[in-house]
Amino acid sequence: MDENELNALLGQLLQDLGGAFSVPLVQIGERLGLYEMLTDAGPCTAQELAQKADVNERYLREWLSAQAASKYIGYDPESDTFFMTAEQSYVFADRSSPVYMAPGFSAAAAFAQNEPLVREAFKTGQGIPWGSQTTCLACAVAQFFRPGYENHLLQAWLPALEGGLEKLQSGANVADIGCGHGLTTTMMAKGFPNSQFLGVDFHEPSIEAAREHAAPLALGNLKFDISSANAVSGGFDLVTIFDCLHDMGDPVAAMRHVKEMLGAEGVCMIVEPMAGDSLAENLNPVGRLYYSGSTMVCVPTSLAQETGAALGAQAGEKRLRQLIVEEAGFSSLRRIAETPFNMVLEAKP
Ligand SMILES: C[S@@+](CC[C@H](N)C(=O)[O-])C[C@H]1O[C@@H](n2cnc3c(N)ncnc32)[C@H](O)[C@@H]1O
Repeated sequence: MDENELNALLGQLLQDLGGAFSVPLVQIGERLGLYEMLTDAGPCTAQELAQKADVNERYLREWLSAQAASKYIGYDPESDTFFMTAEQSYVFADRSSPVYMAPGFSAAAAFAQNEPLVREAFKTGQGIPWGSQTTCLACAVAQFFRPGYENHLLQAWLPALEGGLEKLQSGANVADIGCGHGLTTTMMAKGFPNSQFLGVDFHEPSIEAAREHAAPLALGNLKFDISSANAVSGGFDLVTIFDCLHDMGDPVAAMRHVKEMLGAEGVCMIVEPMAGDSLAENLNPVGRLYYSGSTMVCVPTSLAQETGAALGAQAGEKRLRQLIVEEAGFSSLRRIAETPFNMVLEAKP
């Protein structure tokens, strides 16, 4: 045994376990607004923050100590005060930041809750319908992806579509397939009042949540329907598919159907998790997150449907090209944008 290798592995595991143990703590911090309050308050003692937050001081002190040990917040031993640096606030307190990461911990919690179902599925090989997973999964996923969409969708991804902005500004018919809680559909409907938007998903509670989220905005150009990807009816200028093509049981059939929904001038925007084309290329921190999510959610969701293609969240562009162009018959596919978490593809019929 190589002692250095062993120590390196144990060092990594200590970090990993620290992250895993932090899951419920970050959820508490996010849900009670503690990161925001600490940011607003500036350096303060546990007692001062407990008063502001109206929480028990003993619990808060322990939480603050764990957060400081995690380096998620700062601690000054001289004054016995806790604080957040600009960078820590950007990641944990600023809900509009593109790297607001707190919801990722709720996704981790949902994966852990689903462990008994997935463990059983390992033995049976059966799928697990999206709706059979813990109810907080859909919310956690929506919130995990939200910062990326809010910071990139209208600003970079839609403008990168060929003629995308002009179409949307003058008036296009848009379908957002597998829209989940409909955050993307609602963002687009708000940004492009001359266009009509339909968000569809086969998960009824998600569509109910989408309607609820959108209701206060009272957008006349936005509708949500319960439908599987293969059953959406109507003609569209733009079809968007955010982080869900790989979740579908038969993504080829879904893309063939999208092709029929689009006119000759139509276009489909597919947002998929960032991935290289081989496992070796994906052995990195982002691939690690997505392979884990894919084991617990994406593969079981797909296996529960139709042909159970189980593409996996890390299929990579080469495999997606084969699926979209060669198998579903689109004439072209190009990568129009990317972030560390997503790649954005434009497919033309
Ligand atoms: C990872 S979530 C993404 C949700 C949303 N687009 C987002 O980015 O936040 C995957 C979504 O795909 C939906 N889905 C999976 N297979 C589907 C199918 N065959 N037809 C319609 N929706 C599907 C699920 O119900 C779920 O809402």
